Amino acid sequence: MHFAARGHNVVAIDNYLRRTIAKETDSEPLISTPGLPERAGLFEEKSGHKIETKIGDLSDPDVMFDIVKQSMPDAIVHYAEQPSGPYSMKAFDEARRTLQNNLDVTFNCIWAIKESNPDCHLIKLGTMGEYGTPNIDIEEGYITITHNGRKHRFLFPRAASTLYHTTKVLDTDLLSFYVRTYDLRVTDLMQGPVYGLSTPEADLDPRLCPNFHYDDIFGTVVNRFVVQAIAGVPLSVYGKGGQTRGYLNLLDTLQCIELAVNEPANRQQLRILNQFTETFSVVDLAQQVKSAAKQMDIDVTIEHQENPRKEMEDHYYNPVHTGLTKLGLKPNYLSDDVLLGMMKRVKAHKDNIDTRIINPRIRWS
Ligand SMILES: NC(=O)c1ccc[n+]([C@@H]2O[C@H](COP(=O)([O-])OP(=O)(O)OC[C@H]3O[C@@H](n4cnc5c(N)ncnc54)[C@H](O)[C@@H]3O)[C@@H](O)[C@H]2O)c1
Repeated sequence: MHFAARGHNVVAIDNYLRRTIAKETDSEPLISTPGLPERAGLFEEKSGHKIETKIGDLSDPDVMFDIVKQSMPDAIVHYAEQPSGPYSMKAFDEARRTLQNNLDVTFNCIWAIKESNPDCHLIKLGTMGEYGTPNIDIEEGYITITHNGRKHRFLFPRAASTLYHTTKVLDTDLLSFYVRTYDLRVTDLMQGPVYGLSTPEADLDPRLCPNFHYDDIFGTVVNRFVVQAIAGVPLSVYGKGGQTRGYLNLLDTLQCIELAVNEPANRQQLRILNQFTETFSVVDLAQQVKSAAKQMDIDVTIEHQENPRKEMEDHYYNPVHTGLTKLGLKPNYLSDDVLLGMMKRVKAHKDNIDTRIINPRIRWS
């Protein structure tokens, strides 16, 4: 919708993997929305902008090759992965589905571009979780290492803490290899957790609302805390809550992708950009939600729970994120107003909240 509203010809393809897993795991979003073609029709009715849609599985090479050949895009924005860390840690079948889906889509996409549209710029969604939480500053994709008196520039070391994040590490290696080998144009966006449910296009009609999950499988932490505040249950902080990550508003993820599309990557080296605007610990976020909720006369409590994950709860975290700022990113920071806007919207759907699906149902051990 963001690109169509700015005059681009957009083709959107999805196989409903996310909706399927949400149903299978009882993780329905807070606000239910119609399917892709219905949403595109609704968007056209409200805005006058057309989006072509297709339901298909991009892990099937024929589907990927056909769509790239038919539409010959200038750019492909590749979101199509199983994006839940907890789901990928559930058991063998879920791990295998995550590994196969994510790597197959990336692999097929690279080959479809190489075979039929080598000028196409691929914008691939990676994650800041690829880097993990090393005890040194995190650079933007690359680091120069001096060893025994000689220097070389390498991909920054990665150490993910879920299988999902590990599939993103493997994607980055595939992209790096194919860019070096076939001179493709690729941008890998290392994105942090996204919050928010409002964009100018999504706000045209309630049925255009983005997927808003608040469960332990798909819900990102800000979304979960906002829903817990409205439901009147304690905000669940895993362990000490010192886990620090780089976050960004939904508006900024769209801005970043548009900036990347408008300035395509050079050939020969994979362009990596760290995509977040500010860092918070989990405890910082809980405090911020608590203080915003006070303005709605909601008294929020914060509860530390046993951590279902294997991760550091207290660590150094200093990632560079200058690449997108240089391209022109104007951040929308997390403010009380942003949180209050989310809380008001969630309050309107309070009856849909199922508090049983917020607390962890999946453990790493
Ligand atoms: N949301 C976040 O906070 C966040 C943070 C970092 C990275 N990311 C990455 O950004 C991308 C989008 O994330 P999201 O939260 O919007 O997830 P999402 O699940 O809402 O979007 C991914 C879409 O891809 C589709 N898909 C998956 N496999 C497919 C396949 N084989 N064929 C066709 N469609 C397929 C899904 O059905 C879903 O609609 C993902 O790659 C995710 O890993 C998201």
